[in-house]
Amino acid sequence: MPDPDRELAWPAEDAGWWDGFFADRARPVPFFTIRPDENLAEWLSEGLIAPGRVLELGCGNGRNAIFLARQGCDVTAVDFSERAIAWARERARQAGVRPEFRRCSIFAAQVPAGSCDLVYDAGCFHHLPRTAARTTSGSLTAP
Ligand SMILES: C[S@@+](CC[C@H](N)C(=O)[O-])C[C@H]1O[C@@H](n2cnc3c(N)ncnc32)[C@H](O)[C@@H]1O
Repeated sequence: MPDPDRELAWPAEDAGWWDGFFADRARPVPFFTIRPDENLAEWLSEGLIAPGRVLELGCGNGRNAIFLARQGCDVTAVDFSERAIAWARERARQAGVRPEFRRCSIFAAQVPAGSCDLVYDAGCFHHLPRTAARTTSGSLTAP
């Protein structure tokens, strides 16, 4: 029998749960939009971050990865939901850009230490225990 506390606290640990979440693309979910995060767009337009090598964790439908690729970034984007990655790949094809979308857990992404200029997360880490999030991102960015 499912433990209701665990279900409430950590449904997002489960790729199957997210596949169900992404099953209906027409649902009124804020991050089902095709627009990138406003803060990310601002940071680029204001020169606070420059185009470079980006790893996006939990990329969903690829809206930020696709935006970053259009800005000239070399993007690797990871998500463990098959449906999210399928949607992201479709959207990238339509947009004419080629971020590398990997369907895997962020804990299995195998990204060499120091190989990214930016690790971007929008809404993935807050589903995870803090220590797990820190371990994942800490050593990936170039010094
Ligand atoms: C709130 S959604 C945000 C999606 C996207 N970042 C956006 O802003 O549009 C969280 C995403 O993280 C993914 N996710 C959660 N835990 C994950 C894990 N351990 N490994 C890979 N992806 C994960 C989910 O499949 C989902 O697409």
